[in-house]
Amino acid sequence: MNDLSDVNLSRRSVLIAGALSATASAVPLSANAQQQQQQQASTPPPSQAAFSFTVNGKQHTLEADTRTTLLDALREHLHLSGTKKGCDHGQCGACTVMVNGRRINSCLSLAVMHEGDKITTIEGLGTPDNLHPMQAAFVKHDGYQCGYCTPGQICSAVAVLDEIRQGIPSHVSADLNSKPLLSEAELRERMSGNICRCGAYSNIIDAITEVAGRPA
Ligand code: FES
Ligand code: FES
Repeated sequence: MNDLSDVNLSRRSVLIAGALSATASAVPLSANAQQQQQQQASTPPPSQAAFSFTVNGKQHTLEADTRTTLLDALREHLHLSGTKKGCDHGQCGACTVMVNGRRINSCLSLAVMHEGDKITTIEGLGTPDNLHPMQAAFVKHDGYQCGYCTPGQICSAVAVLDEIRQGIPSHVSADLNSKPLLSEAELRERMSGNICRCGAYSNIIDAITEVAGRPA
């Protein structure tokens, strides 16, 4: 019996000693963490940053609030108002631009994240005298009514055809291993992030289909 209680005692001692040593090593760590937190609290993050990117072939360097979205940088700093602000929450697609050839919602992206990027807006696709084929097709097929969503629709449509050419599948692609079809279902799915309050969807699809080379 005595032997057993000795064993229990020594187990307890080991546990207590372990707990004490763990506490002892935790105290300085926690003090360090507190010190770091205090330092972080007393050093505010930079509120302004300088960054450079290329928009429609032209290099721009901006110094702006780090919270500036790409959409606001384009509209408010560079005065490229072709890109529209609809919801400002990634829901409508009115702010769609292309970054390094891929479409994004510019309202969901901070401008400082685009250092060195190549950005294309509706102003970079064509001019009134020399329309991009997608712009011309939207005019021909009446792919708009009020026109507010149109710059985003057109940028998205140009990028959609590129995605299909590159073989990037969508949620409705039946076979992920073969090139996506240029079907109406594919186009509608891929354009589903671009909302048109005026409901010009059928004409928009006709315009994209024509540019893609399939008879509308
Ligand atoms: Fe960006 Fe609506 S304004 S998605
Ligand atoms: Fe009016 Fe699309 S044309 S919202």
